[in-house]
Amino acid sequence: MNKFFSISLLICIMIFHLSCNGEPVKTGNKNGMIVTAHFMASEIGKDILQQGGNAYDAAVAVQFALAVVYPRAGNIGGGGFAVIRTKKGEYNTLDFREKAPLAACEKMYLDSLGNVLSGLSQNGDLAVGVPGSVDGMCELHKKYGRLNWNKLLLPAINLAEKGVVLTELEAEKLNAYQDRILAQNPTKEKCPYLKRTGFSKGDTLVYSDLAETLKRIQIHKRNGFYAGKTAHLIVDEIKRGKGILSLKDLETYHSVWRPALVGDYRDCRIISMPPPSSGGIALLQLLKGAEKFNLGQYKFSSQEHLHLITELERRVYADRATYLGDPDFYDVPMVKLLSKEYLDNRFADICFNKKSDSQEIKAGEVNWIESFETTHFSIVDKEGNAIAITTTLNGNYGSKVVVDGAGFFLNNEMDDFSIKPGVPNQFGLVGGQANSIRPEKRMLSSMTPTIVEKNGRLFMVLGSPGGSTIITSVFQNIINTIEFGMDPQQCVNAPRIHSQWLPDEIYAEPKAISSKVREQMTNFGHIIKIQKKIGMMANIFINEQDGLIGAADTLRHKDSRSIGY
Ligand code: DON
Repeated sequence: MNKFFSISLLICIMIFHLSCNGEPVKTGNKNGMIVTAHFMASEIGKDILQQGGNAYDAAVAVQFALAVVYPRAGNIGGGGFAVIRTKKGEYNTLDFREKAPLAACEKMYLDSLGNVLSGLSQNGDLAVGVPGSVDGMCELHKKYGRLNWNKLLLPAINLAEKGVVLTELEAEKLNAYQDRILAQNPTKEKCPYLKRTGFSKGDTLVYSDLAETLKRIQIHKRNGFYAGKTAHLIVDEIKRGKGILSLKDLETYHSVWRPALVGDYRDCRIISMPPPSSGGIALLQLLKGAEKFNLGQYKFSSQEHLHLITELERRVYADRATYLGDPDFYDVPMVKLLSKEYLDNRFADICFNKKSDSQEIKAGEVNWIESFETTHFSIVDKEGNAIAITTTLNGNYGSKVVVDGAGFFLNNEMDDFSIKPGVPNQFGLVGGQANSIRPEKRMLSSMTPTIVEKNGRLFMVLGSPGGSTIITSVFQNIINTIEFGMDPQQCVNAPRIHSQWLPDEIYAEPKAISSKVREQMTNFGHIIKIQKKIGMMANIFINEQDGLIGAADTLRHKDSRSIGY
């Protein structure tokens, strides 16, 4: 009885530990590590590494697998960014962000009086940007892949053909979006994402049309998507919904290799995404601010810590709204925004005993959606090749439009443009000329796939979904590690806050701010709103002693998983 009691107690303690701390950190993995939002995609990444593939092969297989098992964000109808550090220590980034169609124009979401036509940039066919993911994966494989392309598509095709068993989270999410998916696909009888009686955990969903699309991509690579049957199915779908994306848009889409944005912070080198993502610039500005004020001198979650990062964020997001956009269309002052002189000046008025005033631009309502519509994954192989990829349809299930006969969702990325100066998008972000709509321009992003080197060695690979909160989530994970000395899982689990200039508020996870600190901050004039979850990290840490350490955000998203071996 005693023995039984002690074993039960031990099990209880273990369960309690797991539920409080997420996945336990596993050390000793030297051969590879994959962290994604879905355990099946992580398994597939591991299989590819075990077949002799490198991190880049695994990334291609994971991207296609996520399009099947995680259709709310994993995609072939969306876009994203990849940050790479090879085993030789070379950096590169791949921009496979969507583009505005050729027929797009600056005022396409405004009526004749200049008022915003509500919802048009967020739902339906007019919200769709030219997808970049398939071209991006082809480019990634062409430049860095080792295994045969066929092999990388095979796991996703098998899953789509044989069917995917829905997890509780995925069943819930599909059910929550049934009305919106139905509204965009009212006549599609066989659409696998619709079920009148509702989805349940354990349902097996077979994606026959998607499997055929993936096979066309397997055989014809980019032409299996941007030309031929798939391209025609996409354009027919768009035409039915009065969208503007054309065959020419698909034919001319190409992803772009861009030099990585690299900057130093303490003894770390940050390798991140340049525009058209705002992520890299904003992250570096924030980290340089943290270093300038020696943030680590304050206690974690103290009023000084939280006030300081809020004040930094307020200034950085104001810069984002004004100066950042697609560098192929707008001259982004990158060097200036990251210069010491500029940042010293920019942060000079931060005051430790009062909140600064936000400028006189009316902030809009932010529709905080407690979900993660983008997805990030990190992979490192045994040779030390690393990749951080963030990819998205933008909203959950993107535009909600499913391409009839091709079986996948199209993005609603056009909403990331500034559709009218000063009018906030779905994440409350405002913008102006730098991010205005132009044909073939890429919309500004917050995605921040990032790699960190410490003393010249690979140290962290990280990223997150979460719209505008992506940048601040990545920022907090780096400072949790460097300034506050947390271990990998503590760093991911630690409660987060977010502020973005406009709206002039702080969003905080329930345990992020104690009542005492909350009172102090409110006295400074901060407005604090509770947000159930902010970000969903997928991090890898590397050190000599422990090897590759995966840290998934299982506390915030229980399907996510780090798998190493
Ligand atoms: O590129 C961007 O910044 C957005 N389209 C990302 C959207 C996102 O992260 C939604 N997830 N919560």
